[in-house]
Amino acid sequence: MDSSDRPDKTPTRGTTPPDLLAMKRGGQRIAMVTAYDAPSARLAEAAGVDCVLVGDSAAMTVFGHDSTVHITMDEMLLLTRAVSRSVLLPLVVADMPFGSFQVSSRTAVKNAIRFVKEGGANAVKIEGAGSSRARVEAIVEAGVPVMGHVGLTPQTAVALGGYRAQGRTATAAQRLCEDAMALERAGCFSIVLEAMPSEVAALITESVGVPTIGIGAGVACDGQVLVWHDLLGLSTGHIPVFVKRYADLTQMTLSALRAYVADVRAGRFPEAQHTYAMREGEAERLDAELAALAGRGSHGK
Ligand code: KIV
Repeated sequence: MDSSDRPDKTPTRGTTPPDLLAMKRGGQRIAMVTAYDAPSARLAEAAGVDCVLVGDSAAMTVFGHDSTVHITMDEMLLLTRAVSRSVLLPLVVADMPFGSFQVSSRTAVKNAIRFVKEGGANAVKIEGAGSSRARVEAIVEAGVPVMGHVGLTPQTAVALGGYRAQGRTATAAQRLCEDAMALERAGCFSIVLEAMPSEVAALITESVGVPTIGIGAGVACDGQVLVWHDLLGLSTGHIPVFVKRYADLTQMTLSALRAYVADVRAGRFPEAQHTYAMREGEAERLDAELAALAGRGSHGK
């Protein structure tokens, strides 16, 4: 969706939850990607994504933790501010980190509002169904749009038995579908479906009125999301089967950095065009002044 499609936009910014709903109804697929800083957010917008997710995956991709649970509200706010001040059109969704919404609906609302007021986010994302439903209701009631997230929910991966696909039996699939419908009833404007068989994601996508955004959930979802570092080949360690690498920025970056190191060592960088020059005649004047100073010094001996 580009700015010419938005004659009646609100004065605030581009894509809104109702726009995403209209895309689902019109059969137009939604493209979402994570971003964690100004350059990634600007590039995502320039590429035409509808939605930018400031994911708590930043705990791993940006801060080097081995799980998403370690990232804090303050760290998420810092990243969200960088992203939201860098884009106009995409909807900016901030991921509520582990511990920011589980304790009570009051804390959940307080933190969701911080993402809007301090982070500039348009919406928040909350993992899980169960007790998360009450949090969704409270946050939506407070006026902040909420994106749900079911299937593999990384914040509770340990409880789920690890990073593994969910909904692989008929009973588990039915439970996921019920969870997604309950999140819709609680007020979610969209739901992320992570790591589940495509038949299950298709069933959920038909069963709910709001757009589903898949990651490892097949092509029947209303949209797709990928983690920035996975999509661009910047991730290290285990790469999930559902990741498609659209570039190998690790290799490109490494070869650029190696060329830089070699140039520095060999004195090939910087060249004349990377160097400032003195104004015309000033170098000669400096030489003359230094010579005069040196002369005065020898008289004084
Ligand atoms: O944090 C994240 O990047 C996410 C996506 C995987 C949906 O939650």
